[in-house]
Amino acid sequence: MTQKNALGIFRRLLLVLLTATVVGGFIGPANAEYGDIVINNYSDGAGMRPAVFPHWFHRIRFRCKVCHADLGFKFQAGGNDINMLKIIDGQFCGACHNGEIAWSVENCNLCHSGTPGTPTQVHQSTVQQLVAPKPKATK
Ligand code: HEC
Ligand code: HEC
Ligand code: HEC
Repeated sequence: MTQKNALGIFRRLLLVLLTATVVGGFIGPANAEYGDIVINNYSDGAGMRPAVFPHWFHRIRFRCKVCHADLGFKFQAGGNDINMLKIIDGQFCGACHNGEIAWSVENCNLCHSGTPGTPTQVHQSTVQQLVAPKPKATK
């Protein structure tokens, strides 16, 4: 490995670490707002796995307003009475998951990925996955 290469890899590592720190700093303490949301008003009953909505993943790509004002999503896990007719009609998830802004509705399993029987909820925060645990001080 040349010295230049090694330096390049080091820089990239540093960037990843810095990004993790900055993102972690913005998030602050674990907050339900940033967790994945399991939506299961109908899925279980229809023999589908519950839908999982990764809030954080979307929230870093779009402003709150896009979904909670323009698309009319209420601020409540499971509070929107979403079904597939509405999605195919371009409402809710279907406003983007239409093969243009994001992959289309045919990808059932990408949304219906929950463990069967999981009730509607704001699932555990994703903070733990984003921020590496701090090393413990040794005596
Ligand atoms: C972009 C995300 C997304 C995709 C892709 C998706 N769904 Fe859904 N689906 C949802 C959400 C959200 C709900 C509401 C979940 C609930 O309340 O249980 C839902 C609800 C359902 C329901 C129960 C309500 C109803 O409309 O009968 C069925 C059945 C269903 N989906 C089947 C499917 C099938 C089959 C596919 C693939 C052809 C699919 N879904 C693809 C997000 C998606
Ligand atoms: C891509 C769309 C999208 C964006 C962008 C988005 N949200 Fe959401 N949000 C949702 C969906 C979908 C739900 C769950 C609704 C449901 O289950 O029917 C939700 C639920 C919520 C909830 C309720 C969770 C709970 O505790 O019950 C809050 C609060 C919330 N969002 C805040 C925000 C804030 C603040 C932002 C911007 C920083 C934001 N959202 C950006 C789609 C979005
Ligand atoms: C405002 C637009 C928008 C809305 C509304 C939206 N999505 Fe998405 N979603 C996206 C985009 C963009 C991606 C990234 C697509 C890609 O990587 O090609 C994405 C990706 C995803 C992913 C994959 C996340 C990953 O880790 O790769 C899931 C799961 C998902 N959406 C579920 C949903 C569900 C369920 C809903 C409705 C409750 C929804 N989305 C509503 C735009 C949206």
